[in-house]
Amino acid sequence: MLAYNNNRPLNQNTTTLDWRDGQPYSAAFQDVYFSSDNGLLETEYVFLQGNDLSIRWQQPALKNFTIIETGFGTGLNFLCAVKLWLALAPKDAILHFVSVEKFPIRLNDLSSALSLWPDLAVLSAPFLHQYDALLENKSIDLYDQRVQLSLYIGDATEQLAVMTEVGDAWFLDGFAPAKNPEMWRAELFSAMAKHSKPNATFATFTSAGDVRRGLISAGFKVNKRTGFGKKREMLYGHFIGMQHD
Ligand SMILES: C[S@@+](CC[C@H](N)C(=O)[O-])C[C@H]1O[C@@H](n2cnc3c(N)ncnc32)[C@H](O)[C@@H]1O
Repeated sequence: MLAYNNNRPLNQNTTTLDWRDGQPYSAAFQDVYFSSDNGLLETEYVFLQGNDLSIRWQQPALKNFTIIETGFGTGLNFLCAVKLWLALAPKDAILHFVSVEKFPIRLNDLSSALSLWPDLAVLSAPFLHQYDALLENKSIDLYDQRVQLSLYIGDATEQLAVMTEVGDAWFLDGFAPAKNPEMWRAELFSAMAKHSKPNATFATFTSAGDVRRGLISAGFKVNKRTGFGKKREMLYGHFIGMQHD
């Protein structure tokens, strides 16, 4: 159902990005990559504020912080998180941003998508420069070694099963649960529990009942607040279940 480009010398396929009304769009999932109201503000509101990152990143003793994301997409969430991290976190602390993406976007499509955000150009340029290396090597260092980006390619639940990282915060993205039920399954939430540090937080744009119930069953305290743009509500919370060292 997805269109692939098989011309690139990579060890996995990449998907072709569709466009609708000047915004990245997935014809296969019939959903947008980010809010048509304003993707950048949506990321700040849903994922950065939803995980309380401004406060947490201003702790002077902070040495490292791991975000795990489902659905890397255009990297907009990544770049917004990096912008905040570089502004607030101690200079010697390292952000490890770990994302899972089943259908990675081609470099030229990614470049077009990120050109929508001129305010992020200084950050997106070095990221784009290393994007193919990321797809090949799965991990790159950026921004004077203050950020490590790791990309697991494949289905979120399957990749969490082989992942070693444990998160301080979750960016639970992905197309809408009604349009992508294969990703938003109970096994995903159980896998999240296994990869959560004590009190790890999560935030997601959706308030779907199945997602709320799945997170609660997996050991997360779930709260609702007003959603971004046209969305009435979103979910955020923290892990209260099984504990890791
Ligand atoms: C709404 S977009 C994410 C936007 C992205 N976070 C950004 O900053 O641009 C949803 C992403 O989830 C990916 N996706 C869909 N199903 C998936 C799955 N089962 N596992 C991992 N990623 C998946 C899609 O390919 C798409 O890139």
